[in-house]
Amino acid sequence: MFSARQVFGAVQRRSFSASSRQASKVTVLGAAGGIGQPLSLLLKLNPRVTQLALYDIRLAPGVAADIGHINTKSEVRGYDPTPSGLAECLSGSEIVLIPAGVPRKPGMTRDDLFNTNASIVRDLAKAAAEHAPEANILIISNPVNSTVPITAEVFKARGVYNPKRLFGVTTLDVVRASRFISQLRGTDPANENITVVGGHSGATIVPLLSQSGYELKGDELAEYVHRVQFGGDEVVQAKGGAGSATLSMAMAGARFAESLLKAAQGQKNVIEPTFVQSPLYADKGCEFFASNVELGPNGVEKIHPVGKITEYEQSLLDVCLGDLSKNIAKGVEFVKQNP
Ligand code: NAI
Repeated sequence: MFSARQVFGAVQRRSFSASSRQASKVTVLGAAGGIGQPLSLLLKLNPRVTQLALYDIRLAPGVAADIGHINTKSEVRGYDPTPSGLAECLSGSEIVLIPAGVPRKPGMTRDDLFNTNASIVRDLAKAAAEHAPEANILIISNPVNSTVPITAEVFKARGVYNPKRLFGVTTLDVVRASRFISQLRGTDPANENITVVGGHSGATIVPLLSQSGYELKGDELAEYVHRVQFGGDEVVQAKGGAGSATLSMAMAGARFAESLLKAAQGQKNVIEPTFVQSPLYADKGCEFFASNVELGPNGVEKIHPVGKITEYEQSLLDVCLGDLSKNIAKGVEFVKQNP
């Protein structure tokens, strides 16, 4: 039997350790890129981050030296592209964000990036599986619908896969969906939180406007949905071949990392949309699916179902599932053929 004092002491120690877990190493692989640099900047401004480790095949020590002068407490280190540099960069990480790879040019779909980015993500995932097997892995590199299954396969092959700690970052879709409805309705985007489910490319992105009480109709609804699904193209075209969304993506990635850190430090009801291994549509060939996910100290705490949707939204979801299952299978097959 434990005395009341012993039990109380244990509870106190547990809650103390949850709220005082302040040492959080966050790693960015691809840190010198269009997304990597502003993402690293935003992470440097986050007081929950105590160590920031930056890796790229070029320029990471330079970016680290620059960001390291910002007067917040975290220590910043940049690593050269050597096996030991990558190993040291990853070791002890709580969160590893991966925006390494090539972005789209006008006329390209995210799937067109597959050939280049699949092997980049596979190789970085191998290093993460070896040196940071318990970290939360946040995949930004496109096509997310395939790069997340690729990462899962790499971790599985090494016996360290934990589905609760692998996330495809789809936050930007929700950020856009919220911003675009606020522009249509003249509301404050900060108060909008439109649910977006499915995957992260074109028709696999399914905004569920009805769940926020909006009833757009006809062309207005079709145009809104198209804008959310293909919002990334607006940026790709406006940049005229110089890349895709970087600044808004950095904000979205930093928001997701912050949510994970908050949840790890004991905050409850932290919910973010994210592309994770999910039971929701596994019977339709989609072992991975993005929906609202409650985060906790162990990563995925609870996967929220899609909930009540309109007939129109169901038709979008049907198209999504068809495309998504192929994207997922393509990622899995890639690792089988190119382990
Ligand atoms: P970028 O070309 O500006 O930067 C990519 C960085 O990755 C470069 O600095 C490059 O040196 C680095 N890199 C390449 N191979 C590497 C390797 N093996 N190890 C480490 N670093 C490596 O591209 P950007 O604009 O930053 O985009 C990165 C990725 O993010 C693209 O795949 C893009 O499609 C994706 N993206 C994802 C979004 C999302 O919502 N999940 C939104 C926007 C872009």
